[in-house]
Formats: sequence, C-alpha cells, structure tokens
Amino acid sequence: MNHPLPNSQPPTLCPLCDDTGWKPISQGNIRRVTRCDCRLHARSLSLLEAARIPKRYEHCELANFECDGPHRSLFPARHAANKFAEEYPLDTTGLLLIGSIGVGKTHLAVGILKELIQSKGIPCLFYDYRELLKEIQNSYNSSVQATELDVLRPVFETEVLVLDELGAVKPTEWVWDTVSLILNSRYNDNKTTIITTNFPNEPAHTAEAANSEFTRARRATAGETLGDRIGERMRSRLHEMCRIVQLQGADFRQTMKSASFR
Ligand SMILES: Nc1ncnc2c1ncn2[C@@H]1O[C@H](COP(=O)(O)OP(=O)(O)OP(=O)(O)O)[C@@H](O)[C@H]1O
Ligand SMILES: [Mg+2]
Ligand SMILES: [Zn+2]
Repeated sequence: MNHPLPNSQPPTLCPLCDDTGWKPISQGNIRRVTRCDCRLHARSLSLLEAARIPKRYEHCELANFECDGPHRSLFPARHAANKFAEEYPLDTTGLLLIGSIGVGKTHLAVGILKELIQSKGIPCLFYDYRELLKEIQNSYNSSVQATELDVLRPVFETEVLVLDELGAVKPTEWVWDTVSLILNSRYNDNKTTIITTNFPNEPAHTAEAANSEFTRARRATAGETLGDRIGERMRSRLHEMCRIVQLQGADFRQTMKSASFR
C-alpha cells in the first residue's frame, strides 16, 4: 500500500535577506547592505556565551542604566557609552571608565559589550583584572594544563576587551610587566580596550615628588592613584588607547538598599 509522502514544507527563506545574510538599507540616497537580523541573532548568542560576562552582570544593558532624576550626574557617562557603541568600529579608541565604588562602571562596560555583540556581531571578552592575573599565575603551576599563552591568547586576540577593576591587585614587578604586556600588545595590534578603575587618574607619587607639600597632602587625603597602581608609563599609554569617562554619583548599591527600606 502506498502511503502519501508527509507534507513536506519548502524551507522558508528569510524575508529580509533571502538567506544571503545581508539586507539592503538606504541612508538618504545611498543604498548599502548590512548584516541581516537572522544572522546577527544566531551569531550574537554564541558571541554572548564566549564573552565571559559574569552572572552578576548579565542584567546590565545600556538601556537600563539610569541617568535621569537623582542619577542625572551619570548622563554624560551614559552618553559617552552610547556614542562609543554607535561609532565603533569607525572609531576604535577605547574607554577608561573612572569612578568611586558602586557608581556603575561595570554595568556601563557590560552594557557596551552587549550592544556591540547584539547590534554589530563583534567578538568581545570580559575579564576581571584580578581574575586574569590569578589565571595567568595559576598557569605557572606545573599540575595545571593551561599555559600562560592559553590564558593570554583570547585576551590578546579579542576585538574588544573589557578589563574590569584595573589596578585592583597590589602592584609588584610581575604585575606591572604583565599589565604592560597585555596593554602594549593590544595597543600595537590596534585593538580596543574598555577599562574600569576605582583609582583616580593621577600621577604616581614618585620618589622625588614624595616630599613635596602638595604630594604629601594629596596622599593623606586621596590615597593611591592609578599611576601608583599600574605605573606612570602604562597610565600614559592608557591615555593614547582610551577616552577618559568620569562617572560621578552615589554608590548605586546603597541607593537601592535604602530605596527598598522606604
Ligand atoms: N545608573 C545605573 N542604573 C541602573 N543600575 C545601576 C546603575 N549604576 C549601578 N547600577 C547597578 O548597581 C550595581 C553596582 O554597579 P556596578 O557594579 O556597575 O558598580 P561599579 O562602579 O562597577 O562598582 P565597583 O567599584 O564596586 O566595581 C549593579 O548591580 C548595577 O547593575
Ligand atoms: Mg565594578
Ligand atoms: Zn536574514
């Protein structure tokens, strides 16, 4: 007995791009093509997975970064982040996000990464500075399989790297060498780095300067600077690699806590 063939549907083509992966767009009189949403979606899922965004920050988006009402002072930082995400990769200058504890630096950095991944399909990587140095140090242990280069390769190669909490490890010769290896290698390859730090973007307290009235006073009030933590040379390199974005505001964690008690 003959069974009719199951009703096989012809595969549906993507209505935007006919499965070419490129869809036409027009800007004024100029017609161009851009990556189609169908490809971006599949690609962004795998890029997001590869980006190593910590669970704690998975909710962070540019769109849910508050910068009105009581958080108005954060508006310039959000604006700079949006502008960066819009202009990349025409402008590949990175960002150095500076601000006190809990002001939203990591949120903004993760928001940018997700925007680059989701709208432009750009390979990105998130690394906490302490975590990265720990993984490199671990690789020297003979019982660990990964070599130093296994850890560093994706850090060197990714198109956009977020290095969170730069300077958070007590500086030693090895720490300085490692930071300069990472930053210099990305700089030489013209790769974009987004950095966050709690340390003020000020020079190191050099031996010669240490005795001046000004430096002594500043050290007493402000504590260590970014220059102290990563060295003046690397701080100056950062100025070539990044635009400085200052985040002004209160500790968001405290604000949320007190709001929930009201
Ligand atoms: N403007 C904002 N709008 C919405 N949520 C925010 C904002 N700023 C911070 N948050 C939230 O507050 C928490 C702390 O922010 P985040 O971790 O980004 O601060 P940080 O500046 O990186 O702090 P730290 O110096 O401790 O690393 C996060 O959960 C973040 O999502
Ligand atoms: Mg942070
Ligand atoms: Zn398509």
